Amino acid sequence: MRTSIACQVLVQASLLTIASSSPAPTAFARDNVAPPNPVITASPVERHPSPVVGRNILSDVDSDVDSVLSGLGSDVPSWVASGVPNFFQGFPTGDAVVSSLGLDSSELAAVPTNVLNIDPYANWTSSGWNVRFHGNVYKQPNTSVSDLNKLADVFLVNTSISDLPESQQDQARNLTAEIYVVQQPHVAVNTIHLEPAPSQGSSGQPGGGGSSNTTGGTQDITLPYNTTVEGDFDTFVPIHSNGLTAGNETSAIQRLNTHVEGATIGNSTAYLVPPTGLTIVSDIDDILRVTKIYEPKQGLLNSFARPFTPWENMPDIYRNWSTSLPNMHFHYLTTTPEQITRNYMQFIYANYPGGSFDTRPLNFSDVSATLSIRKFLLQKVFETFPERKFILIADTSNSDVMRDYPEMATEFPGQVQCIFLRNTSATDPGDKFPYNTSGFKNLKQSMYMFFLHPDDLTNLDIANGQCYNQSIAQNLTFGYQGLPHGLGDKPTAVNGSANHTGVASGLSTGGSAGVQSLMALVAALSTAAFMFL
Ligand SMILES: *[C@@H]1O[C@H](CO)[C@@H](O)[C@H](O)[C@H]1NC(C)=O
Ligand SMILES: *[C@@H]1O[C@H](CO)[C@@H](O)[C@H](O)[C@H]1NC(C)=O
Ligand SMILES: *[C@@H]1O[C@H](CO)[C@@H](O)[C@H](O)[C@H]1NC(C)=O
Ligand SMILES: *[C@@H]1O[C@H](CO)[C@@H](O)[C@H](O)[C@H]1NC(C)=O
Ligand SMILES: *[C@@H]1O[C@H](CO)[C@@H](O)[C@H](O)[C@H]1NC(C)=O
Ligand SMILES: *[C@@H]1O[C@H](CO)[C@@H](O)[C@H](O)[C@H]1NC(C)=O
Ligand SMILES: *[C@@H]1O[C@H](CO)[C@@H](O)[C@H](O)[C@H]1NC(C)=O
Ligand SMILES: *[C@@H]1O[C@H](CO)[C@@H](O)[C@H](O)[C@H]1NC(C)=O
Ligand SMILES: *[C@@H]1O[C@H](CO)[C@@H](O)[C@H](O)[C@H]1NC(C)=O
Ligand SMILES: *[C@@H]1O[C@H](CO)[C@@H](O)[C@H](O)[C@H]1NC(C)=O
Ligand SMILES: *[C@@H]1O[C@H](CO)[C@@H](O)[C@H](O)[C@H]1NC(C)=O
Ligand SMILES: *[C@@H]1O[C@H](CO)[C@@H](O)[C@H](O)[C@H]1NC(C)=O
Repeated sequence: MRTSIACQVLVQASLLTIASSSPAPTAFARDNVAPPNPVITASPVERHPSPVVGRNILSDVDSDVDSVLSGLGSDVPSWVASGVPNFFQGFPTGDAVVSSLGLDSSELAAVPTNVLNIDPYANWTSSGWNVRFHGNVYKQPNTSVSDLNKLADVFLVNTSISDLPESQQDQARNLTAEIYVVQQPHVAVNTIHLEPAPSQGSSGQPGGGGSSNTTGGTQDITLPYNTTVEGDFDTFVPIHSNGLTAGNETSAIQRLNTHVEGATIGNSTAYLVPPTGLTIVSDIDDILRVTKIYEPKQGLLNSFARPFTPWENMPDIYRNWSTSLPNMHFHYLTTTPEQITRNYMQFIYANYPGGSFDTRPLNFSDVSATLSIRKFLLQKVFETFPERKFILIADTSNSDVMRDYPEMATEFPGQVQCIFLRNTSATDPGDKFPYNTSGFKNLKQSMYMFFLHPDDLTNLDIANGQCYNQSIAQNLTFGYQGLPHGLGDKPTAVNGSANHTGVASGLSTGGSAGVQSLMALVAALSTAAFMFL
């Protein structure tokens, strides 16, 4: 998921108070006269924040772009130029939450400890199955409904929680409560109980390993390290076999239930994935669910208030893959912040095949880390399964995806089987974000496809590397698409046609219309940031 500085600003505002007698954030949210420049702030928990890098990824295209941007005014935020609107950036953590909620230490001590136990994957090694446990230890204070309403209003831009239907109010409060948690640093993660998971039941989809029966594996383990300063844990632990099937003797995925003692909601499923086979690595926002994060107001409502909704018939595509390729492993890799992971997991497990999960850990919270987390997580899963082949799926509005997915194909030769990218700007006029296709220049077409609708993914033979549906026009120009002055129309490659009308482009960018759409983008995003103050 993309993220916006808007929320950094928002956090500054929201941290100010609730507990104090100063007005609630909403009271001053809309009364500012001049929009201040969005300010990139460090995560409150980061003691020595790394410098924020306003990387201008447009500069490698054409220096004209820089002059276009500067011509729009000196207050164009660097993060617009960097192509990453940092939407969910800098949520409050730890002490900042304690002080903003006005908690004292005895109140906090009385709150039960909880564990976000993110569904892990495990690889097969010479010492047996090796499980990557990762998650966070935290306390979720019992914040009153009225305080949650005030805090939620800050997230909802021009909407007040009282204007939403009751169910949406509930979701907005739940999400806000999940963000306002107090992470627990330097504590042990004691006694994770493992036991075989029954074959996946009626909720969600079968497959993703859910169709095989696991026997064995029952045991209790303690993680070798205490939590980090942010309350996170992320470590591989070799487990005892205790009756599990060896990874070199099966191609099926085995599943273990994992339960952290004392945590009421700390259950997850560990996926024991054999060394060879196919793994889907799938992003979630705007590919598995409707987010429209590129339209700030819609993105906020779709994330904070409205029920998560699958994108078109994408669940059918995944269902077909998980049943027709029963040993396929599904790994959901999104850069949404860790605090709201549980909502993403619930949505996925209700609509898509079961699978392991990765979200953005708390130590990747500044802007430059936000730009690097996807690559870090991709490298980790590729290195853990050096003999498996990967199918990478996302949409074109993530600049990190556009860079990282094709890079995986060159950095891990032979491990990328397919790359599928939904072109959000081709079907959604609200997506005015430029995107860069130049990473695909040296990949063969049979390996990747830009597509418009889930049905474009039917009838492929992905097991044999046939990932391109001939009937989906690509008309690919390798370079930036959707820039002002039609700059993206300049072909930078020999093997793409200089055409801007296919699935790979989708944004009409003639002359001043392009400038206007970029200005509209800048205005919309600046407004969103402004609204938080
Ligand atoms: C599987 O791996 C284990 C441990 O490395 C080894 O002892 C066993 O012989 C292997 N089995 C097969 C079928 O290769
Ligand atoms: C949370 O607070 C409300 C009142 O503010 C109270 O009714 C409820 O019992 C509390 N819940 C817990 C788990 O302490
Ligand atoms: C909000 O959280 C409560 C308690 O966990 C749960 O019962 C309820 O279903 C949630 N509501 C929504 C809309 O997610
Ligand atoms: C780890 O946490 C436990 C309590 O959870 C504590 O007793 C122990 O001292 C901690 N160890 C380190 C190295 O911080
Ligand atoms: C799993 O076990 C159930 C009940 O014992 C059985 O019906 C099913 O066929 C088994 N599935 C596999 C893949 O072995
Ligand atoms: C974040 O923590 C992980 C281990 O949990 C570590 O491997 C990684 O290098 C850290 N990244 C940053 C940016 O600090
Ligand atoms: C979590 O797992 C434990 C142990 O298997 C079980 O007793 C508990 O009911 C589970 N909790 C949930 C919410 O499923
Ligand atoms: C919020 O409302 C203001 C004033 O009505 C409007 O100008 C602005 O575009 C709105 N912002 C969003 C993100 O809808
Ligand atoms: C298992 O995963 C670990 C952690 O990524 C990696 O270092 C190791 O090489 C992997 N083992 C095998 C046999 O692939
Ligand atoms: C379902 O998946 C299989 C295997 O990938 C493929 O051959 C088949 O065409 C797919 N069916 C549809 C309707 O996409
Ligand atoms: C671009 O596509 C349009 C529509 O298919 C076609 O008429 C035009 O000739 C193409 N231009 C180039 C340079 O290939
Ligand atoms: C893509 O280009 C081909 C010719 O190369 C043309 O027939 C087709 O209409 C174009 N597709 C779109 C969507 O413009």
